Amino acid sequence: MSMHKDTLCIGIFGLGTVGSGILSILSQNEEVIFQRLGKRVYVKTICIRDLSKRRLFNLEGVRVTDDPSVILNDPEIDIVVEVMGGENPAFSYIKAALENKKYVVTANKEVISKHKQLFFECAKQNGVDVYFEASVGGGIPIIRSLKVGYAANKIQSFFGILNGTTNYILTKMDEEKQAFESVLAEAQALGFAELDPTMDVSGMDVAYKLTILAAAAFKINVGIDDIFYEGIENIHLEDILYARQFGYVIKLLAIGKRLSDQKVCLKVHPTMVPIGHPLAAVRNEFNALFVNGNALGESMLYGKGAGSLPTASAVVADIIDIGFDTALQNSRRNLEIEFLQENLVPVDQLSSKFYLRLSVADMVGVLEKVTAVFGRHKVSVANLIQRENDRGLAELVIVTHEVAESNMNHALGELRNLFEVQSIQAVIRVGLDE
Ligand code: HSE
Repeated sequence: MSMHKDTLCIGIFGLGTVGSGILSILSQNEEVIFQRLGKRVYVKTICIRDLSKRRLFNLEGVRVTDDPSVILNDPEIDIVVEVMGGENPAFSYIKAALENKKYVVTANKEVISKHKQLFFECAKQNGVDVYFEASVGGGIPIIRSLKVGYAANKIQSFFGILNGTTNYILTKMDEEKQAFESVLAEAQALGFAELDPTMDVSGMDVAYKLTILAAAAFKINVGIDDIFYEGIENIHLEDILYARQFGYVIKLLAIGKRLSDQKVCLKVHPTMVPIGHPLAAVRNEFNALFVNGNALGESMLYGKGAGSLPTASAVVADIIDIGFDTALQNSRRNLEIEFLQENLVPVDQLSSKFYLRLSVADMVGVLEKVTAVFGRHKVSVANLIQRENDRGLAELVIVTHEVAESNMNHALGELRNLFEVQSIQAVIRVGLDE
């Protein structure tokens, strides 16, 4: 790394939505960036998969190649920016860049979630650093806030709305009373949701992001297979309407909490958030992270979690930050070299309030049987609504007091086996404090 040059020389892998956003920001804000950094940012080379794809913008002065080694082996390039997405070949490009003593900036949650330890160690060995602000919450400076802004705090807990697609779907279902499938189709038509939205709606996208936040906030090294995650596929319009009646909105949350005795909980699931909570006001494609620090108390970061310019905003901020760091000789701000051995508590050892919606036979004694199951498993009912429908069935909507997850699982198992219970339509966790 050339410490005293008056330019930062960049090579970029990928020229899709985020890559083109980077070029726009570097051109549009060139003077602002120069004033702030005291150096020019020069994009020397861009590596793309398919050279025949037509580009809509001016790439004058930039070498475009499909050969990764042109970037990886160029001694003049200081920073490699990876905005291709997916695990491979991004993994090998990032690793090779670090081994060649190049700083790395990536927007790729999957590759960071899976390979963070290897990258951090490789960066340390080579005297460089890897920056990944854009991988969580798009343009919102979440990682930098956790590492620097909240650095004086012990972070007790955080709750994130970290997926724009699912937040958009839940918002439209709530506000326009549309069913899941029709909002998803609308979001796809608007180019919002991916044509294959599985990663988003299954909660996997948020799970990747949560593992990255766990490293930044708690110094814990986990992968998505270590944490419980559940998506929004089973959220029905009825549940959103009942949630409103009970004073909640349903949000897909990434939750990280310190429990007692060095124990930590990390999980992703739809949650009924009280209507007055700041997270309940996060609408449409917006993202937010609500953080509890032991000095600051409660605070919230809010903004656009996806899209060309918002995501590129975080990438360019990382490039500028590297420019600051290299002037000061390597702060290695981002590297978690010594992960802590905290104990991750499995979800069945946690407890929560639950919302349940059951379809039951409309006949004498049903309620008694259901409450007997609850009694056996220490499930205490806080609210109950019963509604007949026209098919000889009744809908039972129940909000419980706090109950151990394992007790609730046993109770649900018994309910499923009751002749009078036709189906369990919804099981949603309620509230933020467990
Ligand atoms: N699919 C993601 C979202 C993009 O909808 O938020 C950002 O990771």
